[in-house]
Amino acid sequence: MKIAVMGAMPEEIEPLLDRMDGYKRVDYAKNSYYLASYKGLELVIAYSKIGKVFASLTAATMIEKFGATKLLFSGVAGAIDENLKIGDLIVATKLCQHDLDITAFGHPYGYVPEGSVYVRADEELINIAKDAASEKNILLKEGIIATGDQFVADEERKRFIAKTFKADAIEMEGASVAVVCDSLDIPFFILRSISDSADMDAGFNFEEFLESSAKISADFVIGMLDIIAK
Ligand code: ADE
Repeated sequence: MKIAVMGAMPEEIEPLLDRMDGYKRVDYAKNSYYLASYKGLELVIAYSKIGKVFASLTAATMIEKFGATKLLFSGVAGAIDENLKIGDLIVATKLCQHDLDITAFGHPYGYVPEGSVYVRADEELINIAKDAASEKNILLKEGIIATGDQFVADEERKRFIAKTFKADAIEMEGASVAVVCDSLDIPFFILRSISDSADMDAGFNFEEFLESSAKISADFVIGMLDIIAK
């Protein structure tokens, strides 16, 4: 079994690489992939670069070229649910693309023919996350994550996404990774730690909390790998 662990930005995977027993870098398709070992597990680790296109390419590459049979995503998100504060963790039960819009043809937001508005994450991996959370007494929220090729720093857009998709958090890669994994039949899991509230302070907060929130998420994924390795 080879497990893919991906992020979107260097800050999201550096804390993971720091914890590996060893790794080797392989460059492919204008990106770097790290073939790593951790407590007997074989991993492939990479950051994709920001956005749905790069994330899709990286997820597909980790599966098709590097042979990953499960995928864990670790990173940061903007909060939509008011109860989510900076540093809190949210795991996606299902994900959607908030910027996918062919409503002009009578379809709902987030839908294209032969697709679905939501893609569900793997329940077994979510259960492992729940075990990791209770072992360490960490509060882990489950919810809907909305993905789009936009950094949202606007109350009106945030309200639209909340109302249309009942989303709890927003980011820029998860749903595209979900579509790739679902299409290729690979169990996946998307974890995010809150870096901002997708409001007018979001840009400022993101810059301030990216590193600390990314590390909270990465440390949690290490806890999950500890359980998987047992
Ligand atoms: N990732 C972290 N914060 C975000 C935001 N406000 N919008 C989109 N992606 C994000």
